[in-house]
Amino acid sequence: MEKYEKQGHLIYHGDALEILQSEIADESIDLIFIDPPYNMGKQFSNFQDKWPSEAEYIKWAYEWIDQCIRVLAPTGTIYLMASTQFMPYFDLYVREKLTILSRIIWFYDSSGVQAKKYYGSMYEPILHCVKNANSYCFNTDDILVEAKTGAKRKLIDYRGKVPKPYNTKKVPGNVWEFPRVRYRMNEYENHPTQKPEALLSRIIRASSYQGNTILDPFAGTFTTAAVAKSLGRKSISIETQDEYLKIGLRRVLEMKEHLGEELLAVKKKMEVKNGRSTIRNDQTGDLFNAN
Ligand SMILES: C[S@@+](CC[C@H](N)C(=O)[O-])C[C@H]1O[C@@H](n2cnc3c(N)ncnc32)[C@H](O)[C@@H]1O
Repeated sequence: MEKYEKQGHLIYHGDALEILQSEIADESIDLIFIDPPYNMGKQFSNFQDKWPSEAEYIKWAYEWIDQCIRVLAPTGTIYLMASTQFMPYFDLYVREKLTILSRIIWFYDSSGVQAKKYYGSMYEPILHCVKNANSYCFNTDDILVEAKTGAKRKLIDYRGKVPKPYNTKKVPGNVWEFPRVRYRMNEYENHPTQKPEALLSRIIRASSYQGNTILDPFAGTFTTAAVAKSLGRKSISIETQDEYLKIGLRRVLEMKEHLGEELLAVKKKMEVKNGRSTIRNDQTGDLFNAN
C-alpha cells in the first residue's frame, strides 16, 4: 500500500477493504461516494470485474459496506451505486443499518451498443443514505434546478387564497439526467466507467460542507476527489490499479511525474469545423456549476 497526500487530498494505492480496515478511523468521514466494481465482467486495467459466484461478490460487498458505515460520521451521508442486478441485495442490506432517504435513478442517453432482444439499460441506481435521519447535511439552496412550470411557462398558481407565480427553482427529484462522459468532453479520462463531474458535483454540494472530508473507496478516474477539491472539500481516495492511480496523482494532486514517468492527460484529436474546435463541455442542467 502506498499513500500520497497534498493539501487535504489523500490517495491510497491498494485494496479498498484492507485500507478501510487499517487506515480509516471510526466516524471520521462526512460523505462517502461508492461506485464499486459491478460484477459485470468489465476489464479495469489489470482487474477483471467478475467474481466466481454472485454469493461471493455480495459477501465481499457487504464487508466494505460495513466498513464504510463504521467510518461514517454520526451526521454523515453515503451514496451507493450498484448495477441494477445487484442493487436489490444492497438495498435490503443497507436499510437495516442506515436510513435510505432517496433511491436515485441516474438516467442517460443511449449507449453505443443497442440491445436488440431486450430493453437496453439506460440508467444506474444510487442509494442516498444517512446515519441519522434527524441530523444530516442537505444544502437545498446549492442544488436548485429550473422548475419549468414557473421559469419557462410562467404559469400562475391559483390554488391558494392569493394567486402567485409558480416557483422558478426547485430541488431536483430522484431521476437525474446527466450525459455519460464521452471522449469529446474536457473531463474525459481513459477508463471504462468514468462518472460525470456533474453527477458528483450535485452529490457533494448537497451532502457536504466546505472543509468536510469525502471518501471514495473505488476511485477510478478520481472524479469524486477532483470535484471535492474544486468545491473546497477534502478527499480520501482508494484505487488498486496503477494506471488509474496515475490519473489521480495528476488530476487531484497535480503531480507532473511519477516513478520517472511523465503524467500526461489523454491527448485527444480535435476536430476543427468552421474554425472552431468541436470538443466541448456538455450542459449539466443545474443552476450551479462545479467550478
Ligand atoms: C466503477 S469504477 C469507479 C469509477 C469512478 N467512480 C470514476 O468516476 O472514475 C471501480 C474502480 O474500482 C477499482 N477497484 C477494483 N477493485 C478494487 C479494490 N479491491 N480496491 C480498490 N479499488 C478497486 C477499479 O480498478 C475501478 O477503477
